[in-house]
Amino acid sequence: MAKDKAIRELEDLPGIGEVAAEKLRSFGIDTLEKVAVSSPHDLSEQSGISVDAAKKAIAAAQESTTVNYETGEAILQKRKDIGKITTGSKDLDEMIGGGVETNAITEAYGKFSSGKSQIAFQLSVNVQLPKKDGGLEGAALFIDTEGTFRPERIAAMAKAAGLDQKKILENIIVVRALTTEQQMLTAERADKLIIEKNIKLIVVDSLTSLFRAEFLGRGALSERQSKLNSHIHRLQTLADKHNLAIYITNQVMDNPGILFGDPTTPIGGNVLAHAATTRLYLRKSKEEKRIIRLVDSPSQPEGECVIKVTPDGVKD
Ligand SMILES: Nc1ncnc2c1ncn2[C@@H]1O[C@H](COP(=O)(O)OP(=O)(O)OP(=O)(O)O)[C@@H](O)[C@H]1O
Ligand SMILES: [Mg+2]
Repeated sequence: MAKDKAIRELEDLPGIGEVAAEKLRSFGIDTLEKVAVSSPHDLSEQSGISVDAAKKAIAAAQESTTVNYETGEAILQKRKDIGKITTGSKDLDEMIGGGVETNAITEAYGKFSSGKSQIAFQLSVNVQLPKKDGGLEGAALFIDTEGTFRPERIAAMAKAAGLDQKKILENIIVVRALTTEQQMLTAERADKLIIEKNIKLIVVDSLTSLFRAEFLGRGALSERQSKLNSHIHRLQTLADKHNLAIYITNQVMDNPGILFGDPTTPIGGNVLAHAATTRLYLRKSKEEKRIIRLVDSPSQPEGECVIKVTPDGVKD
């Protein structure tokens, strides 16, 4: 088969359009690997395309998913392109290995007022800074699912840093998502915008609230997890493809099953635990202080630090 176009996503497979891909994702078939191991009959049923077309799509998926061997040295070279966005706090930056990384998903979870959104605002400002000042000279895409995006707060942070408030706000593209469909579609269709606006940070604040509201009860749990899984996978694909950072926030729910320690756990369970590259647990302390625990990181030891959420933004 002629390989004229690299196959990276479901949509790149012959016979699979946006609609068929979306259907497959709703069945949890969200990677080329999963298509590659599907039977033509199942794939046809789950995507709505014919069995013959499904056979072709499977063959193409199999061809594109041969195991890729890379040397450690080649990966090290690639990692040199990874960018880091300063959080505004040196201690926090240091704890997570120099800032919020591109090519990765960073998750902040914690109770209300723990500072999740404040960090999101600060990163949306800081991503625009010159590289020498801890930015990536790029724009931010802010997916707001809770209606808590505050331009005034961003303006205050920009002003405190001596930046042009209007310019900073112009470089933050906000999507107010009211449903999980809108939230997911924003990520699905983001490629063009990312390239046009040079987006280097995508915020999803919060990742889980709409999923939690729409899929209630035990019966809906597997559908919720499967959709959430495909959404996160899409975000990770965007991060890899465009070398950008993803920052997601997540609420915690009380878990009365835990008798000792902190009786709260992040929403989304295992789906998120495995998907997020770096996980931060935020807790409110006295006044401006917030305690941040690094729960999971591919390269940094577990740790804890304290930041301040001040009128000027996130500080040490
Ligand atoms: N202008 C400001 N100056 C100082 N502190 C502020 C300012 N604006 C907000 N804060 C602090 O940030 C807190 C809100 O934090 P944030 O909005 O990040 O919470 P969150 O973790 O996103 O919570 P939620 O789960 O409700 O979305 C406020 O309670 C306040 O303490
Ligand atoms: Mg918030």
